[in-house]
Amino acid sequence: MLKRFLLTPGPTPVPPEVLAAMAEPVMHHRAPRFTAVLTDVVAGLKSIYQTGNDVLVFASSGTGAMESAVVNLVAPGDRVIVASAGKFGERWLQLNRTWGADVVALEYEYGTRADPADIERALAEHPDVVAVFVQSSETSTGVLNDIRAIGEVVSRTPALLVVDAISGLGATDLRTDEWHVDVCVAGSQKALMVPPGLAYVAVSTKAWKKVEATDNPRYYFDWTAARTKMAGDSAQTPYTPAVSLLAAQNAAIRLIHEEGLENVFERHRMLGRACREGARAQGLSLFGPDDPEANSVTAIVVPDGVDGGRITSLARDKYGVWLAGGQGAMKGRIFRFGHCGYFGASDIVVGLSVMEMVLAELGYPVRWGASLAAAEQVFMQSTVAL
Ligand SMILES: Cc1ncc(COP(=O)(O)O)c(C=O)c1O
Repeated sequence: MLKRFLLTPGPTPVPPEVLAAMAEPVMHHRAPRFTAVLTDVVAGLKSIYQTGNDVLVFASSGTGAMESAVVNLVAPGDRVIVASAGKFGERWLQLNRTWGADVVALEYEYGTRADPADIERALAEHPDVVAVFVQSSETSTGVLNDIRAIGEVVSRTPALLVVDAISGLGATDLRTDEWHVDVCVAGSQKALMVPPGLAYVAVSTKAWKKVEATDNPRYYFDWTAARTKMAGDSAQTPYTPAVSLLAAQNAAIRLIHEEGLENVFERHRMLGRACREGARAQGLSLFGPDDPEANSVTAIVVPDGVDGGRITSLARDKYGVWLAGGQGAMKGRIFRFGHCGYFGASDIVVGLSVMEMVLAELGYPVRWGASLAAAEQVFMQSTVAL
């Protein structure tokens, strides 16, 4: 028997109330009961997105909703800007190239932010750009982009701002309408506290105009079909939805509302800060800028002389703790703690404790308990329940 802890940035742990909702008898999707669930979920998501825009629901992982953004907005030959600083930025590049976009790539080093001034310059240089694609939280590095500043720049042009907030939404403040985000993609399995399988997009009026003008072939991910079904007498989805996951999402949204969105963000601030302080107290280097709002993921540089792959495998196999390794170019060079969604102070304590034991076993000169002491001091200052 090995007790398991899921301390990764997706999938993330699921609260018992949400698991219980998922275990209810399966409902039919063309029935009033399901319409009530879908309507509640969409209303709840709008409050988390902080938007009055349409929110569409798809049965897919987050990448499906990313692809839906490209096929609904970008015709072959359309020029787009992709600001990429990690594995998921690269996914925007790949998706846009796959669908025939003419891509202006702003590629940044892993561990850095996209620079709004570069986006402004690229938009001025290419006034025909139809959309700018970027991540809010780049999960592969833990870095949070400045979506407010990017939104300000893009909103002064005809281009749309398309944000992948798959690991950001619900963990850090993201004001879809106020920050001029035209399309915002999210997934169920991160801060929204549901198993993988649901993806969401919030779509602005400006974006709908481009959808209407874009006649790419599309079927399952056709946003217009999704909007029409949502707006019918009884809200539905065009095809069989993931009914049990939606029941789970409804329960998770209730938990978020009970806690209060501001308190949810503050809890994430505390967890992120404790994780960063815990790493620093151990003499470890953080990967990426020191950002008090980058609270979905903490990426830590693998210390010299330590085998990065062994950190995660030892944590998993000996202590039952799933941490995330580096992805793509960062494989073996960083390891990551996820703390978006159903996470509390005790999860961070477990994670940091296991980190100390694993690093010690791999030859790092650990200062015993230093990470825990640093995290505890952060938690003691918290004004919200953790
Ligand atoms: C920022 C970001 N974008 C995209 C994805 C891809 O989502 P999925 O694996 O659900 O398709 C992830 C998943 O880790 C992510 O964190």
